[in-house]
This record gives sequence, C-alpha cells and structure tokens, in this order.
Amino acid sequence: MSLGRVLVVVPTYNERDNLELIAERLRAAVPDAHLLVVDDNSPDGTGKLADEMAERDDHVHVLHRAAKSGLGAAYVAGFGWAREQDYDVVVEMDADGSHAPEQLPRLLAALENADLVLGSRYVPGGSVVNWPKSRELLSRGGNRYTRMMLRLPLRDATGGYRAYRRTVLDALPLDEISLKGYCFQVDLAWHAMQQGHRVVEVPITFVERERGDSKMSRRIVAEALWQTTVWGLRRSRSRRTS
Ligand code: GDD
Ligand code: MN
Repeated sequence: MSLGRVLVVVPTYNERDNLELIAERLRAAVPDAHLLVVDDNSPDGTGKLADEMAERDDHVHVLHRAAKSGLGAAYVAGFGWAREQDYDVVVEMDADGSHAPEQLPRLLAALENADLVLGSRYVPGGSVVNWPKSRELLSRGGNRYTRMMLRLPLRDATGGYRAYRRTVLDALPLDEISLKGYCFQVDLAWHAMQQGHRVVEVPITFVERERGDSKMSRRIVAEALWQTTVWGLRRSRSRRTS
C-alpha cells in the first residue's frame, strides 16, 4: 500500500500557542508526511516560529503570505505549492488541535479506495467534543441544509479535516472556487463529486480548541448559508431547463 508522498497543509493565523504541539503530534503519528504551514503574516509571530521549526526539521515547510486573506485562499496557495513540489496526497488540517493527527492514518487508509476522504463528525463513530450545544446545532443544521439544497449525499460537507489525491486537486477549477469560510469546504467536496471522484467519509473526533481564538464569525456562517441557497437555486433551475 503506497499512496506516494503526503503533504499536510496547515493554515495558520495567530496560532503561536498551538503550532508546535500539532506539528509534534503529526510528526509522531505519520513520520513520513511533510507539513506545510501557510501563515498569513500572523501578528503573534506564528510565521517566525514556523520558520524556526522548518530549520530544525526537513519535513516542515512554510509558505508566508502578506496578509490575512481567509482559510480558502490559504489552502489554494498550499495546494499550488503541493502541485509544484509534486506531492501525491494533500491533507487539510487545522492548527488548533481540533483535528487529531493520530486519526490521520485512518483517513489515509480510506484513501486507498477513494479520491477524497472527508473526516466526518456526523457519521456513526464521529463526534464533537467541547462545543456548546448551540454551535453543534448550527453546524448540524448547516450540513442538513447543504445536503438538501445541493443534493449532496454527505453528512459533513463543511468539515476541514480531509485527504485529497492529487488527481482531485488537478481537476478542480481552483480559480473558480469560493474562498469564503465554510463555502470553501462545501464547494471543493461538491466539485469533486460532480467530477465523478470517489468521495467517502470516515468518522473523526473533533475537539474544540483550548488555546487561541477561533476565526470563524457569525458573518462567515451567514455567508455560507446564503451562498448555499444561491447554489441550490441555481442547481434546481439548471435541472429544469436541461
Ligand atoms: N492562513 C490563514 N488565513 N489561516 C486561517 C485563516 C486565514 O485567514 N482563518 C483561519 N485560519 C486557520 C486557523 O489558524 C486554524 O488553523 C484553521 O484555519 C481553522 O480556523 P478556526 O478559526 O479554528 O476555525 P473553526 O474551528 O471555526 O473551523 C474549523 O471547523 C469548521 C467546521 O466546523 C475548520 O476546520 C473549518 O475548515 C471547518 O469548516
Ligand atoms: Mn478551530
């Protein structure tokens, strides 16, 4: 079983208190994988810390971006880098410890028979730890709405712990992808399915961060619901006319 070279892309904005631990855990859990930190010039010095880590460890790389421009934009930049450096598998992972590196082998194993593996909080065996009930309801509701509007047969299309085969990323129109918050994740999964790629979900345990602040705001959630509505309406209209 060989998937080839694996790159884990971790976008960061003010994750100074989290980055080293997540990197250590990743290096221990999947020693062959490389790590790419995509930092948006974090005021707290996360980028500098990442540079120091990269100096010590040849499996760690850093992409510096000029200013905070969103999770989606950071990932698109990371995907471009992965392509240039010819990685075969690209993983999305948060820096704040919500995505356990210890569960990455499970995602990679599922990729043997899939093109895109989604770490899923809402399939049997999956869970969320330390979220207020209100946030879980919002996330579950958002996923239910997405499933209905886009006829997307996924339990967790907004999650951000995933593994892609390069073939999936190569086929994505990265310049057309919506870069905003949760839409980014939904859009990528949706495109991959429409293009006939094999998309599977495996259960994960999502643990809410203990340090630092979340960057997802009410505005980003509202944007995502609105964008899903627009896509859904467009989708049903094109069904009717074709
Ligand atoms: N470079 C960069 N630029 N990184 C960012 C930015 C940005 O503008 N915004 C957020 N990040 C990084 C954070 O530093 C963290 O490593 C990761 O992206 C996730 O950000 P959080 O603020 O912790 O987001 P979350 O926990 O609310 O969202 C997570 O769960 C969602 C589903 O509930 C993410 O995994 C989302 O992708 C996912 O949709
Ligand atoms: Mn988080």
